[in-house]
Amino acid sequence: MPSSLHCIDCAQQYPIQRVIYACEACGGLLDVRHDIGARRSSLTADTFDSRLGALDAPYNSGVWRFKELVYPDIDDNSIVSRMEGNTNLYELPRVAAFAGVDTLFLKHEGENPTGSFKDRGMTTGVTQARILGMERVACASTGNTSASMASYAARAGMQGIIFLQNQQIALGKLAQGIAFGATCLQINADFDRNMELVRLVSEKLGIYLLNSINPFRLEGQKSIMFEALQQLRWRTPDWIVVPGGNLGNSSAFGKGLLEMLEAGLIDRLPRLAIIQAEGANPLYRHFSSGFGQFEPVKAETIASAIKIGNPVNLQKAIRALEWTSGVVEEVSDQQIMDAKAVIDGVGIGCEPASACSVAGARKLVERGIIKRGDTVLGVLTGHILKDPEATIDYHADQLPALSPESANKMRQVDDDFDEIVSVLSERAP
Ligand code: F0G
Repeated sequence: MPSSLHCIDCAQQYPIQRVIYACEACGGLLDVRHDIGARRSSLTADTFDSRLGALDAPYNSGVWRFKELVYPDIDDNSIVSRMEGNTNLYELPRVAAFAGVDTLFLKHEGENPTGSFKDRGMTTGVTQARILGMERVACASTGNTSASMASYAARAGMQGIIFLQNQQIALGKLAQGIAFGATCLQINADFDRNMELVRLVSEKLGIYLLNSINPFRLEGQKSIMFEALQQLRWRTPDWIVVPGGNLGNSSAFGKGLLEMLEAGLIDRLPRLAIIQAEGANPLYRHFSSGFGQFEPVKAETIASAIKIGNPVNLQKAIRALEWTSGVVEEVSDQQIMDAKAVIDGVGIGCEPASACSVAGARKLVERGIIKRGDTVLGVLTGHILKDPEATIDYHADQLPALSPESANKMRQVDDDFDEIVSVLSERAP
């Protein structure tokens, strides 16, 4: 069976070449589906392990190493890649101790070419744009999607168009969008409104939409799970912990995990824990109320990447929670920034939203949901340099309503040999 698009609600099918982001019959979200059953014999751990360290395209990419599961049957020459993925999986005892578990791994997706996991979704999204012959691509973004799309669009010779809110965009993200030559629109609207606007404008002008409502984005992002499980020698951890904003990653993880199970690469599913900021917690509220009536929220958090109140992938994330007996937790800005200081302090570092993984794991341990002996794999979604202002303000105790638990304060010292020696002779606090 060739790959096709499927509505997750009414199972309506569409050819893979259709430019469509929602079911025409019922409005439901769409999945890209490949015939995994028919390929099962080639989808072995040996196949994927034999490609590790490949020097040539496409298997030198941590996304396309899993091509049979990501987008089989396409010509390798159509792939737009920056050798994304291949990110490190760190085992971090000091962060594990902070979270309250014996074994904690962090997969650092900030080590992707533009500094976030979005590159995994952009290599597949922009490849599909090229296959479809698109010349313009667009997204609304809190910053990382736009940085990544701008880069991949430039590589493919397409015009990138990005819809940004006019406040709280982290500098490391904004700088990339501008530098990579995208058309940057700063709009007096929050992310959720920009998401509505970009959908309307893209439809009107025939621009290819590259937000995670585009199912080809999620096909790339699910490779985070493929690669992490490969790094764990295909042994399933008890928990996968991930921040949730527009819920693309959570949705992609559910799909990828199920496909690995279907392919026989793993023999059981981990449980998924999706972590939201308290000020941007619509999924948490929905989950806590037993999935009653969904209410969007007006989002506010220092973790600007996940300042999202009306996530487009809601239904797919709920499906992922059902498949994996998953849970949703919320964490405060204080908990996010304190967890970030711990991750930064072991020499790894991440942007604020990413620290939800560790802050959330800690809270779930405190609540007795994650057990001390459970193996936990958290995902760090973005690089520490994405949002330098938040980091510096935290350590300088300049964040309103927050008191840093472990600030590394800068010392002002005169051009004076004795003073420097005296300062460095003080006992460390
Ligand atoms: N972490 C970071 C660093 C992000 O940039 C995002 C999303 C998330 C977590 C949440 O992931 O949306 O898949 O649930 N950033 C988007 C953007 C919305 O525009 O860059 P999600």
